[in-house]
Amino acid sequence: MVLEILTYPNELLRQPTKPVETIDEGIEEIIENMAETMYQAPGVGLAAIQAGIDKSIIIYDPEADAVKRDYNVLLNPKIISSAGETISENEGCLSVPDIRSDVKRAETVVVEGLDRKGEPVRIDADGLLSVILQHEIDHLNGILFIDRISALKRELYKKKRKKALKRSEQ
Ligand code: NI
Repeated sequence: MVLEILTYPNELLRQPTKPVETIDEGIEEIIENMAETMYQAPGVGLAAIQAGIDKSIIIYDPEADAVKRDYNVLLNPKIISSAGETISENEGCLSVPDIRSDVKRAETVVVEGLDRKGEPVRIDADGLLSVILQHEIDHLNGILFIDRISALKRELYKKKRKKALKRSEQ
């Protein structure tokens, strides 16, 4: 099932998510639905809270290949260390429509979490994967990429978004 993606300024996107305690059929179903939603969008990553599901679950597929569907799942992921600095090119978010921006990110991150079977995993990421993981883990803490751009750019976007929402209401 394709899930509805919440968009800015929906308040749920600001809510820190709850850890997954047990992996049951409900969690499996959420993961399957998240994957369908991500590939349909299409996107390279998705956090459960973007579909209004208050759980620390992210999925990602840097290749965004809907045919292979070779995606990864991380439960309760945390960045345990980061190093360097990079600028993500043209970062965007399914929950923040009509804006893309370069964002200052760590160059490399080490992430720990659980895979979909509940086994501990540790990922040393650089390049695009590093940016995706930082972006998705931000979602679990209620942070959006527009929080990491200049205040001026962000204010302009807020105004533009308000106008667009008003127009769609009429
Ligand atoms: Ni996002």
